Amino acid sequence: MNAMPQWAFVNNEFRPFSEAALPIEDRGTQFGDGVYEVARVYRGTMFGLEDHVQRMLQGAAVIEIEHKWTVDSLRTIFKELIARNDQQDGIVYWQLTRGTAPRNHVFPHGVEANLMAYTRDYPNLSASWENGIKVIVTKDIRWLMCHVKSVNLLPNVLAKDAAARQGAGEALFEREGFGVIEGGSSNVFMIKDGVLKTPPLSHHILPGITRSYVLQLAAAAGIPAEEAYFGRQELVAADEVFITSTGIEVMPVVEVAEAVIGNGAPGPLTRTLQQAYEGKISETTGGR
Ligand SMILES: Cc1ncc(COP(=O)(O)O)c(C=O)c1O
Repeated sequence: MNAMPQWAFVNNEFRPFSEAALPIEDRGTQFGDGVYEVARVYRGTMFGLEDHVQRMLQGAAVIEIEHKWTVDSLRTIFKELIARNDQQDGIVYWQLTRGTAPRNHVFPHGVEANLMAYTRDYPNLSASWENGIKVIVTKDIRWLMCHVKSVNLLPNVLAKDAAARQGAGEALFEREGFGVIEGGSSNVFMIKDGVLKTPPLSHHILPGITRSYVLQLAAAAGIPAEEAYFGRQELVAADEVFITSTGIEVMPVVEVAEAVIGNGAPGPLTRTLQQAYEGKISETTGGR
């Protein structure tokens, strides 16, 4: 498990992972001046790749990174990476930064963006999917461009480490005036009286790919859904809570800030959506 991959893609070429390195003045390293993505690989096939690439292209456009990459050219590279690493089940990580230039906050011009990509194994989360996890709630100290998947993850790192130290699997951010808005690396959903609720898209949250799939699957399953804000009190009183991301998929939450949700076990609508998500994985990749 989690053996080191053999190959990475960096500076326009495939390099042995152990030798692959970014330049010291890569702007992602020095300024967090870049965007990234994580896509899942099931049976050697990328899941939702086009949606991930589109989100990255939009984020790169928002922060005005000039680059040459397209859905097709990136797909070609990731396919080769997956083949070289024989990555059956795992993730592809990639990041695009504003390139390498003498250190200066102001954008350099005429500099080639740096693309870096590699694959990794992903842990089996069966026990958590079956039993659910607990989460903490913490103040959202992030900025106002959370819709851009930037490599600036320090608030997320601090929040998720605090969660881990309390034996929790995620930290949910509470934003003043908006309520509980999303997790450190996930989107949040609650269910009350049969209605699914998740905060609306805004610059306070990442437009999660899994979030959008779950809303589509809920509609197909006839589960009514609302994109609306909710506070901590409303969340704690929910019948069911779950979080979503590319990695954790549909993860039941059975405890929020030490309050037990429902009867302390994953609820029926969460189960329905977990199964529907599994179905979507099977349809597009042939299954795990
Ligand atoms: C802050 C944040 N919100 C939500 C998500 C879930 O997004 P996705 O479903 O596209 O993985 C992530 C994923 O890492 C994230 O970092």
